[in-house]
Amino acid sequence: MEKLAIEGGVALNGEVAISGAKNAALPILCAGLLTAEPLTIRNVPHLRDVTTMLSLLGQMGMSISIDEKLGIELRAADIHTPEAPYEMVKTMRASVLVLGPLVARFGEARVSLPGGCAIGLRPVDQHLKGLQAMGATITMDHGYMIARASRLKGARICMDLVTVTGTENLMMAAVLADGVTTIENAAREPEIPDLAACLTAMGAQIKGAGTDVITIAGVEKLHGASHNVMPDRIETGTFLAAAAATGGSVRVTGARPGTLDAVLDKLRETGVKVETGDDWIAVAPNGRLRAVNVRTAPYPAFPTDMQAQFVALNSVADGTGVVHETIFENRFMHVQELCRLGADIEVEGNTAVVKGVAHLDGATVMATDLRASASLVIAGLIARGTTIVDRIYHLDRGYEAIEEKLSKLGARIRRVS
Ligand code: EPU
Repeated sequence: MEKLAIEGGVALNGEVAISGAKNAALPILCAGLLTAEPLTIRNVPHLRDVTTMLSLLGQMGMSISIDEKLGIELRAADIHTPEAPYEMVKTMRASVLVLGPLVARFGEARVSLPGGCAIGLRPVDQHLKGLQAMGATITMDHGYMIARASRLKGARICMDLVTVTGTENLMMAAVLADGVTTIENAAREPEIPDLAACLTAMGAQIKGAGTDVITIAGVEKLHGASHNVMPDRIETGTFLAAAAATGGSVRVTGARPGTLDAVLDKLRETGVKVETGDDWIAVAPNGRLRAVNVRTAPYPAFPTDMQAQFVALNSVADGTGVVHETIFENRFMHVQELCRLGADIEVEGNTAVVKGVAHLDGATVMATDLRASASLVIAGLIARGTTIVDRIYHLDRGYEAIEEKLSKLGARIRRVS
C-alpha cells in the first residue's frame, strides 16, 4: 500500500495551478447519459473517483474517448445495462448520481443501495422521494434500488434537507421529464450551477441553479455539447490552508475566489494576509496564526469538506478554536491521528475543541477518508521530523498530483510503497 513520507518544517512558497473540481466533474460525467449525442467535457481532473465513474459508465455501454487535449468525449448511444452494481457504489458513493439520468432517459435504473461510509450514514431517501414525486416507482430488491417510470412527470419537490448529490440527481431527472419541476430547499453549492451550465448547453431549460429554488422545464430530448468543469474550490482551500499553516506565501491560480468566501474569511481571521484577483488567490504570513471557530453548513457557509484542514491549522495556532461539524455525524476521524502528532484536541459529539500547541512532531498516521487525509498532510508539513501518512489511496480519490504540486511549492514529500 502506498504512503506519503513528509519531512515537515518547510514553509510552502510559490505558485500552484488548481485542477478541475471532482464534485463538479462526477455529476457532469453522469449527465452524458442523458443524450445519445457526444458530450465533451474538459478540465476533468485526473483522479481515482473519475476513473471509477468512467469505468461504471463504460460497463453500462457508454463509449468513452479521450482527445489530444485530454477532453473526455462520452457517447451514450447504446446503454445496455442501466445499472450501478454494489462493487462500484461501495467504492464510490457518487455512483448514485446515475440514478436520475438513467430513469429519465431509459425509464429504468438499478442502483445498489449505498452503505454507511467513513464519515456518516449518508442515506439517499431524498433522492428517492424526489423521483417518486416525479412518478417513478421505487422498489428494493436484494440491496438494489430499482426505479421505473415510462416518462417522469414534472413535480414540486421540497427537500427535507439540503443535499448536494440529491439536488443534482433530481435536476438530471427533471430535464427530460414531462412538464415543470421545482426543487425547493435545493443545494446552492457552486457545483450545482456548473452542472446546470452543462445541462443548459445540452438543451435543458433550467432557472435558479445556485439559489434554493430551481425550476426546470422538461424537454423531449437533449443534444451533444461541450463543457469546461469549474476549478476545485476544496483543492484551492486545501492549498491555502497548507500555505497558512506552514507560514508560507502561496498563490493559487486558475481558481474561482467567489466560491470560497467563507473559507477566505476564516483564513483572514487566522491573521494571514489574503489577496484575490479574478482567478487567483494569494496568502502570505503575518505573525503566528490565531485559532478560529468554525461551523460547517451548506453553501455559502463554511464547507464540511474544509473542516479537517482547519482542525489541522488550528492545532498549531495561538489560542483555542471550536469546530462544529453539522453536516456529517462522524467526520472527526482525523482528530485521533492529529493527536498522535502532538495536537491537543477533544471531541464531544459534533464539536472539536482544538487547543493550539507550539509544534507538532512527526509520526505515522492513517488516513481514513479524503479530507481527513488532506488534514494529515497539512499536519505533516507543519510537524518537526518525518510523518508517514498511510492509506493515501483516499487522497488519490480527490487531489490531482498532490505530491508533485506540494513539491513544487518546496515541500519535502515523497510517495513510498
Ligand atoms: N442526507 C440525507 N438524505 C439524503 C441525502 C443526504 O439524510 O437523501 C444527509 C447526509 O447524510 C448528510 C447531509 O444530508 O448528513 C448532506 O449530505 P449531501 O447529500 O449534501 O452529501 P453528498 O451529496 O453525498 C456531497 C459531496 C461531499 C460533500 C457533501 C456536502 C459529491 C460527490 N460529494 O456529498 O464531498 O462533503 O456534498 O457538501 O459531491 C468530498 O469531496 O470529500 C465529499 C465527501
